[in-house]
Amino acid sequence: MYPRIIAHRCGGALAPENTLAGLRIAARLGCRGVEFDAMLSADGVPVLMHDETLERTTAGRGRVAELACSQIGQLDAGAWFHPGFTAEPVPTLDQVLSLCAELGLWANVEIKPSSGQDAETGRMVARHAVAASCSLVLSSFSPEALRSAAAAAPLLPRAMLVETIPADWRERLADLGAMALHAQARGVTAEVASAVRAGGFSLACYTVNNRDEAGRLFAMGVSAVFTDRPDLWVTAEM
Ligand code: G3P
Ligand code: MG
Repeated sequence: MYPRIIAHRCGGALAPENTLAGLRIAARLGCRGVEFDAMLSADGVPVLMHDETLERTTAGRGRVAELACSQIGQLDAGAWFHPGFTAEPVPTLDQVLSLCAELGLWANVEIKPSSGQDAETGRMVARHAVAASCSLVLSSFSPEALRSAAAAAPLLPRAMLVETIPADWRERLADLGAMALHAQARGVTAEVASAVRAGGFSLACYTVNNRDEAGRLFAMGVSAVFTDRPDLWVTAEM
């Protein structure tokens, strides 16, 4: 069961994305679910990172896949967003999942492989996620990563992540053994939303930073929205 409002990248408009600070703020605002991106360090540890390179969201340089987890953990991932978040670290997936469990948050772990690391990232993320004590769903744009995650942890629920919902979405969900579809909000129609729900699948849409747009999507039968602005809703609506 999906929470209706999911903090995208831990609530990326309010705090530096993919950080524990963001997660804590989302929880304080009453959010019950969070989404974040998990990528492998050079030594194969899943860390929270959206881009393949470090420049946009940290004080580091170069590729995430070329630095050890211990080196990534020392980078400042907060100052770029606001000086008040200076020295906020890049967390590991294990740290984030443990905080989700502590705060009672549902998690969507998006498997975000660096180029050419789809299978390995799916496998490693699933191995770490299977040990978590919180409820979670794995998702990915990469079918290869999802297949590899399924092989490593068959019982973890999986979602197929797409930009545009393809005409053969039923076959693709079946092929991946996925229980949900995550799609860009733009382009989702009432017709496809109702067909996805009628098929027994959850449908979550990204990225929705406007209450009216979310209202329209919920009215179509969309299960949940990913937002950078969880502060737009009050706890009772989440
Ligand atoms: O999982 C939904 C959304 O996060 C996918 O896009 O690029 O923000 O990871 P992106
Ligand atoms: Mg994501």
